[in-house]
Amino acid sequence: MKKIALLIIFVMVMQVAWSQAEANYDESKVPDFELPDPLKTFNGKKIRNSKKWTKKGRQELLDFFTENVYGEVPGELKIASAQIVEQSENALNGKAKRRQVELTFKKGNRNLHFFILMYLPKSVEKAPVFLGYNFYGNHTITEDVNVIISEAWSRDNPSFGIINNQLTEQSRGVRTNRWAIEKMIDAGIGLATIYYGEVDPDKDDFTDGVHPFFYVDNQQQPAASEWGSISAWSWGLSRALDYFETYSEVDENKVIVFGHSRLGKTSLWAGASDERFAGVISNCSGCGGAALSKRKFGETVGRINSSFPHWFCKNFRNFNNNEEALPVDQHELLALIAPRPLYVASAEEDQWADPKGEFLSAFYASKVYDLFDKKGITSDKMPAVNEPIQNTVSYHIRTGKHDVTDFDWEQYINWAKEQVLK
Ligand code: GCU
Repeated sequence: MKKIALLIIFVMVMQVAWSQAEANYDESKVPDFELPDPLKTFNGKKIRNSKKWTKKGRQELLDFFTENVYGEVPGELKIASAQIVEQSENALNGKAKRRQVELTFKKGNRNLHFFILMYLPKSVEKAPVFLGYNFYGNHTITEDVNVIISEAWSRDNPSFGIINNQLTEQSRGVRTNRWAIEKMIDAGIGLATIYYGEVDPDKDDFTDGVHPFFYVDNQQQPAASEWGSISAWSWGLSRALDYFETYSEVDENKVIVFGHSRLGKTSLWAGASDERFAGVISNCSGCGGAALSKRKFGETVGRINSSFPHWFCKNFRNFNNNEEALPVDQHELLALIAPRPLYVASAEEDQWADPKGEFLSAFYASKVYDLFDKKGITSDKMPAVNEPIQNTVSYHIRTGKHDVTDFDWEQYINWAKEQVLK
């Protein structure tokens, strides 16, 4: 038994090593490619103003990304009930209010629950918030002993004490480094976070999470144009926003959606597909997030679809090793967020996510922001590390690895105050 387990681990390690070894990290080997112009419709018509963009260009791009990249949500599922299951007026040493809300969804005999953990500044009656998923449960983002531990499936992470796919007391606070909660509260901004595994467990299995709610007859998985997990997670963020529309302590017009890595891909898609989000942050989102696919630098479309077959819709596989055929690229995903404030961030050592491709994407999306007289990224020359460019479209690359740091949050808070909350 032990030998088999060791063999499996060895094969998995080799697979990761192989997949990363294959990736191109050499700028001189980036292919020549032509980026589609967001200000041209698919049949080549020039888009000259924001009205035409909103009606025609934006709509056809949104349709393309929906049907061929992230997948469409097959129906509507409203919140069946929302319950504040725990609260305190004196959290974080008296600095903030804490709320834990359980949202329930029902269809037939199916039930889905997810919990929103909120820390809200006491100084504001109706607080703006950063809304973002966490990777290992709400209880991991703070030492606060009152945070409820999720019962949902989790990926194992022995270094966090997570084994047998279960979250326990042992993992409380293991991710506090990624969430600068006190800095947010001091700035008058709340945090709302959800464990993404409660909406859809992150594994190639479409029998769990929210997907099966919409199956007809004996359907086992979504159709080729229907939602993968990123789209399902985005759906969950929109439902949280539905809740904020009914909840007096959060300003539903000032919800900034945030995400790191796969959850940064998710925040971008949530912001693109739901215009109620007031601002969008993508932290190290990489391939299928902010990075341009056609550069084929670091992770590629083929690679991501084979390592994570459940993230995107099946139609996206048509572009495996075939990025040339994509009539869009990720700068157009970013453009869908215009004219709302957008922040794209990278890390110097996170070459797998292609920092330059993330930067260029923000630069090329800025064309659409120009139509709205909003300032984006004005030069295609990357800024130096730790020197943020902050406009309606913002970008920074910081020193360090694939992670979320206090430096990142300091920039997001500053930008949010200037660009979203003013
Ligand atoms: C992998 C994956 C990335 C993803 C990252 C993460 O590295 O290849 O696309 O962003 O996981 O979510 O941590």
